[in-house]
Amino acid sequence: MYKMKKVYIGTNWKMTKTYQEGAVYCNELLKISQRLSSDIQLFVIPSYTMLSSIKEILKESTIQLGAQNMHWEEKGAYTGEISPTMLSEIGIDLVELGHSERRQYYNENDEDINKKVLAALNYEMNPLICIGENMNQKENNISVETLAAQLKVCLKNVSEEDLANIRIAYEPVWAIGENGIPASADYVNEIHNEIRSILTTLYGSKGKNIPLLYGGSVNLENFLEYLQLDNVDGLFIGRSAWDMTSFKEILSSIDNLLTEEVNS
Ligand code: PGA
Repeated sequence: MYKMKKVYIGTNWKMTKTYQEGAVYCNELLKISQRLSSDIQLFVIPSYTMLSSIKEILKESTIQLGAQNMHWEEKGAYTGEISPTMLSEIGIDLVELGHSERRQYYNENDEDINKKVLAALNYEMNPLICIGENMNQKENNISVETLAAQLKVCLKNVSEEDLANIRIAYEPVWAIGENGIPASADYVNEIHNEIRSILTTLYGSKGKNIPLLYGGSVNLENFLEYLQLDNVDGLFIGRSAWDMTSFKEILSSIDNLLTEEVNS
């Protein structure tokens, strides 16, 4: 059953909200967050255009603000890119790296992600590294090998001291988005245990504390089941968190779960 620890709950808005919509959302989230257990670490990841303005809204709160991507260079002739210096100037807390849509549509690979991870750490921002196998890899029974290779390359040269700042999201590609098939809780349990053991192979006992989030078609029916698994430290939610009514429901159930735990 549930064990007391910090729970990471957040959402990547992808390319869905305008600033007007994002501001309404964040003002509401701010109000809701004041009633939630401090063990819930919330984060939101809007588009670049509104990061500064959303930062203003969230500045007095503990809600972390993230960016959806980042270049690894500090500056240079990279039209259309955003550097770690620019994000850090705004006061960004975390940077999502290697989402499957970045890998699929913009050909990002693990080496690129590794450079971004190191750059984010350098600027004291938490890298939220997304990993996941595709359907073909799953069907060929190479999910664990795929994840091990992704982790090994994405975490190359990340020191033990920096591990406290790393967050990992397991997001099976086949479970993400409109056409995604939600993963069974058994499957998520099995894979999160495997990821934990890959991390302890890489880092020894320090690998035990890296927060592991699950993402991919998390919804009102399945979120509690996922969250109660041993090696699931949080949820990374897309569609079900974009609408505040459903996100609010998710958050208050998690809050109840944490409160029951404290009182039991
Ligand atoms: P989804 O998105 O919850 O809408 O499947 C998850 C993600 O892409 O991180």
